[in-house]
Amino acid sequence: MPNTSPTPIKNAIEIRNLSFFYGTFKGLKDVNLNIAENKVTAFIGPSGCGKSTLLRTLNRMYSLYPGQRAEGEINLYGTNILDKKTGLEPVACASGHGVPKAHTFPHVHLRQHRFRCSPL
Ligand SMILES: Nc1ncnc2c1ncn2[C@@H]1O[C@H](COP(=O)(O)OP(=O)(O)O)[C@@H](O)[C@H]1O
Ligand SMILES: [Mg+2]
Repeated sequence: MPNTSPTPIKNAIEIRNLSFFYGTFKGLKDVNLNIAENKVTAFIGPSGCGKSTLLRTLNRMYSLYPGQRAEGEINLYGTNILDKKTGLEPVACASGHGVPKAHTFPHVHLRQHRFRCSPL
């Protein structure tokens, strides 16, 4: 008899108590969210509710901008990417941000980025 039990959902990202600041303005307040592996997740909401801010936090793009900071945890397969000790490479490898310029590793040609990324 075939096994009909559903495949358990594995979280790729677990966001815990995430707040985000543009200077003194709090753009995100205590976000708690799981994002499943191999599923499509959409952020839907009215303009200004924080969709773009959340995305920029997930790939740490904000860290390029002085005065912007995040508090809380974003655990990517168990590694808190907001921890200063976590390098940008696991973030860049998992996030696949489509940009025409190499923001994350400005010193590395785009063609070389994929060679720095091994499967998680
Ligand atoms: N660069 C910024 N400086 C200050 N506040 C910002 C900046 N970008 C966005 N915000 C504010 O953060 C909040 C969330 O904005 P945003 O993430 O762009 O919302 P959405 O993408 O859902 O429209 C809004 O109040 C917005 O005005
Ligand atoms: Mg937006």
